[in-house]
Amino acid sequence: MIRQIAMRCALIVACLFSVAASAREAPARHPPGAAIASAHELATAAGHEVLAAGGNAFDAAVAVSATLSVVEPVSSGIGGGGFFLLHDEKHHRDVFVDAREVAPQSATPARYLDAKGELDRDKAENGAASAGIPGLPAALVHVAEKYGRLPLQRSLAPAIRIARDGFPLYARLVDQYADRREVMERYAATRAVYLADGDAPEVGEILRQPDLAATLERLGRKGFDGFYRGPVAKSLLDAVHADGVEWTADELAAYRVKEREPLRFHYRDFEVVTAPPPSSGGIVLAEILNVLEGWDLAKLDEAHRDHLVVEAMRRAYRDRTLYLGDPDAVAMPIARLSSDDYAAGLRAGINPDHATSSASLPSGPAPAEHVNTTHFSIIDADGNRVAATQTVNLSFGSGMVIDGAGFLLNDEMDDFALRPGTPNAYGVMGYDANAVAPGRRMLSSMSPTFLVGADRIAVLGAKGGSRIITAVLLGILGLEQGKDSAQIVGIPRYHHQYLPDRISYEPGAISAAGVDALRGMGHEVIDWDGPTVLMQSVDWDRKTNEMHAGADPRNPVGAGKVEYRKVAGGK
Ligand code: DON
Repeated sequence: MIRQIAMRCALIVACLFSVAASAREAPARHPPGAAIASAHELATAAGHEVLAAGGNAFDAAVAVSATLSVVEPVSSGIGGGGFFLLHDEKHHRDVFVDAREVAPQSATPARYLDAKGELDRDKAENGAASAGIPGLPAALVHVAEKYGRLPLQRSLAPAIRIARDGFPLYARLVDQYADRREVMERYAATRAVYLADGDAPEVGEILRQPDLAATLERLGRKGFDGFYRGPVAKSLLDAVHADGVEWTADELAAYRVKEREPLRFHYRDFEVVTAPPPSSGGIVLAEILNVLEGWDLAKLDEAHRDHLVVEAMRRAYRDRTLYLGDPDAVAMPIARLSSDDYAAGLRAGINPDHATSSASLPSGPAPAEHVNTTHFSIIDADGNRVAATQTVNLSFGSGMVIDGAGFLLNDEMDDFALRPGTPNAYGVMGYDANAVAPGRRMLSSMSPTFLVGADRIAVLGAKGGSRIITAVLLGILGLEQGKDSAQIVGIPRYHHQYLPDRISYEPGAISAAGVDALRGMGHEVIDWDGPTVLMQSVDWDRKTNEMHAGADPRNPVGAGKVEYRKVAGGK
């Protein structure tokens, strides 16, 4: 169901001091300041605080990420995982830090089946069985130690402060608590955090998380061992065991982030640098954009343009379902899927005037995930960039707060095809490539992305399950048309993911005449029926030397903010 959320202009605060924003002959070589956009204004402010203290984009990413763990526990947290796409300007290097959760050694497909051999949705989505070994704490340590300038403790300081002192609850968090209440209130430690005042969370009430503050402090002091060994690890193991699931101290201590080569491809005048497996995002984006590159979309009428985009989406999501999974466990035809020849073949199979039914394409059912996750984007004044998407999967993850450690455990196991070929409550499906096995990383749609052109550089990504990828696609198409970050995050969106075989669209994304025309071509077209997609983007226009920061207007507590650096002699 579509949630009617008042549209709100993204906050773009310019100028502590003056900036030369006039058009220039040659593209500027250094950004005029720093831009951060995240799903919560306190997290955006935490990032700028750390930059002002001498940190770089990577320190700011640690601050934003950890603060989101505190103020947006509905979406992500240190009990979950994420992907950090980094650009290190000094070394001209891009790296993808994969902090995805991994399946515990005790995980088998049988764990997720009921007595009749059907998928047990409760185990897939709730409590300890639904959780993978968390990756986000390891990412914070890794990013700070390898790429940051400041001690981890300094970058975690805003998150620790806000966890201890509290922050006011907002509608999205309160509403989604109500949705997940039954599961959350199974756990005494969850009740202790969310029902501390005796009743359910209310808008405006202050949420304090002292145990989480202490866990973040320990992480800051001790680094990796502060979470994966010692008292926090013990609390985590005790809580998981009490919920009937076997995890070992050794497998916690063995968790590692993986640095991977980002996926790169060209789309018209831009290089797209984006997420490789275990995200499906980069490959699906490459397939869609490679197909679209063969047409001049601007010359087509609305319905034909949308039709071709949808046909490209359909084919790319079909391949996601069939082929993609953990790159360390399964062989995937990545080079083939992202090649121009493959795109040409797909293009040739598209009827320009009529929908292809998904059932007529070579086999496979559909993906579509759930309802929480968060994305933030950063460019600093040195030109370093961070696109990070982090998640606990469903709203409030597994619902289980770890007693004594104060964080919510994820329910990322549901991103596996736990029973291959069986759709879950949200339609997620997959086969062997994404089957559950000990130590594997579950397939994701999270797609942190850089769009790099001669004159413009953008950093973008979104939450929204399988709709993340099409949202990033529409963002890229908007940027290509000259829109800035504040504009692209508000674009009304449409989506097709192969199965279910239909287009869903937000109000304004397709005109009434366009909907009629698409139906005439054989498409089923319905109102947006999926999770709210929230996108955060920042960009630097090197021609005008302006920066833009956009937080999705569908989320009233988000904030994009540009801080221009002090210019010598400036006003
Ligand atoms: O990794 C993934 O693809 C999912 N766990 C993300 C879920 C998500 O974005 C839900 N947001 N609405």
